[in-house]
Amino acid sequence: MPQFPTDIVINPSANPTLSQILASRRDLLKGGIGLSLLGLFGGVAGCVNEPRPASTSSLLGFKSVAPQTDPRFDRVVVAEGYSARPFFSWGDPVLPGAPAWRPDASDDWQAQLQQAGDNHDGMHFFPFPDDPNRHGLLVINHEYVNATLHPNGFTRQDGKRPLDEVRKEQAAHGVSIIEIRQDASGQWQRVGESRYNRRISAMTPMAIRGPLAGSEHMKTASDPSGTVVLGTLNNCAMGVTPWGTYLACEENWHIYFVNRDQADHAQRPSHARYHLPNQSDPKKYQWDTADPRFDATPDPAQPFGGQVHEPHRFGWVVEIDPFDPASQPVKRTALGRFCRECAVASLGEDGRMAFYSGDDSKGEYIYKFVPAGRFNPTSKTANRDLLDEGTLYVARFNADGTGQWRALQVGENGLTPANGFPDQAYILLNARLAADHVQATRMDRPEWVAVHPRSREVYVTLTNNELREADQVDAANPRAHNLHGHILRWREQNADPTATEFEWDVFLLAGENAGTRDANGQPVAPNLAGTINGDIFSSPDGLAFDAAGRLWIETDYGDSEPHNRNMGCNQLLCADPASREVRRFLVGPRGCEITGITFTPDQRTLWINVQHPGLSFPASDGVSRPRSTTVVITKDDGGVIGT
Ligand code: FEO
Ligand code: CA
Ligand code: CA
Ligand code: CA
Repeated sequence: MPQFPTDIVINPSANPTLSQILASRRDLLKGGIGLSLLGLFGGVAGCVNEPRPASTSSLLGFKSVAPQTDPRFDRVVVAEGYSARPFFSWGDPVLPGAPAWRPDASDDWQAQLQQAGDNHDGMHFFPFPDDPNRHGLLVINHEYVNATLHPNGFTRQDGKRPLDEVRKEQAAHGVSIIEIRQDASGQWQRVGESRYNRRISAMTPMAIRGPLAGSEHMKTASDPSGTVVLGTLNNCAMGVTPWGTYLACEENWHIYFVNRDQADHAQRPSHARYHLPNQSDPKKYQWDTADPRFDATPDPAQPFGGQVHEPHRFGWVVEIDPFDPASQPVKRTALGRFCRECAVASLGEDGRMAFYSGDDSKGEYIYKFVPAGRFNPTSKTANRDLLDEGTLYVARFNADGTGQWRALQVGENGLTPANGFPDQAYILLNARLAADHVQATRMDRPEWVAVHPRSREVYVTLTNNELREADQVDAANPRAHNLHGHILRWREQNADPTATEFEWDVFLLAGENAGTRDANGQPVAPNLAGTINGDIFSSPDGLAFDAAGRLWIETDYGDSEPHNRNMGCNQLLCADPASREVRRFLVGPRGCEITGITFTPDQRTLWINVQHPGLSFPASDGVSRPRSTTVVITKDDGGVIGT
């Protein structure tokens, strides 16, 4: 089934990433400082053709899984001694009394609103304190919808999408919350009749809080108050707060809208800089043809120009309290608006913290938000609105291995009214524009962030960017036509999440192993050669540390593209941060991406998501409709995952 592209936009700003930075790095490397830094940080670019050492990791206790290159591969294979089984698929009942999923996809939108959404992505297991390793709430993002959602795919009548289809698509977006528990035999089960079970969709009312609440930028004909928005869109990765709430993040929300007024679109950075379509595109969902809320073309006859501000109400972090099913989700505008992959917390000893986010588009930025207040571990209510006040920063990676967080704060770093930044609301709404202005570093599509549980070292996946040209490489994005992506890491000064200075290095470049030959017997092209010490992969996306400090890496690449042929189907790997050894733990069915990752506190159960499988998974009968599915993984001897 065809899928809509969701990650095709690029940062058009003219920030130098770039050849002069590379030149300055070369100058540095001629001197002793650069050489010593290179030694300290591993000197990744120079390692491409060096032999890799034999296995040294004591963290990786499992046997590697082979890559799966069969074009009809349609199951999950996991390391020997482990079991993986489908746990929660698109269409499975969520609300008590929800209808069973129909294999012909004939469920209507009201049924879909009670069932699991499509395209499971980021997720988190929230344990109940009384039995934390056997009982909890699983919260799962539903990023977008595939044509498999409908019996006949996405249809149009006279160029318009049928409203019933659009409503079903809106119902299949958002978040599922399900209560789950282990039965007496040790199998995880979903609790059908739970008061916690909940579906949040693209139609669920949610509050707008923080600096943009009630702002002129947020008012629409449907919501003159600018404080209540319907729904959340394109929830990709996520975050979890220290006070036990879930942060759903809005990634490629722009593709759901259109502003057909070319002149207005061009002069409105909150649309143009975010690549809102300026014409109706049959390759996109075209919800505007059925639901006027998604037509952001200004209409002077309506209050507040109609829905021209509706796209301002997406691109945020949505805070959800899974333990309070009556609570309204809240969009926290202090964290800024972009195509946000994730919002991952790092907590210092004194309660100060940071939330890290990637803006996953080609050449976009890495951000962190530092709340003004501190986490209070003794009172849940004291933390309730901590995300409404604080400072948003954007990362600048210098060629010498140092870096800075530059505040996107009115009056600082040239973000002044004279330079076109009148107030903080405008800066947060147009965070990309502000980041351009402070000369942040344009990255190769930042996706997930993971924070080491002890050192607080921060890792980020840079999934790929084939559009980076040779004269645009920099130290932090060192490959032109970066088809395989890389993983970068940094250490905040004094391991303080709120620091404004850090040191960084490239953890690995994904791609083929050293010495690999292409189909013509030639050494693999430089942009395809990686520095992986172990099992190969492309396009790292999902990323998480377990409690012992193993780094789990999930991939999202086109498994039918020739440059990914040797990688096989998408996969879950595990890395030792110290030795940098990487080992393949699991491979998914053809056409899927592996994403979402969460553990029980005792680390003996792992859940991952198989998103948009291409054939018939989880049925493996070759005819059934493929379904995005949460997979539960345990070790057959009941042990800790990865050991
Ligand atoms: Fe939805 Fe950037 O992955
Ligand atoms: Ca995804
Ligand atoms: Ca992703
Ligand atoms: Ca991805």
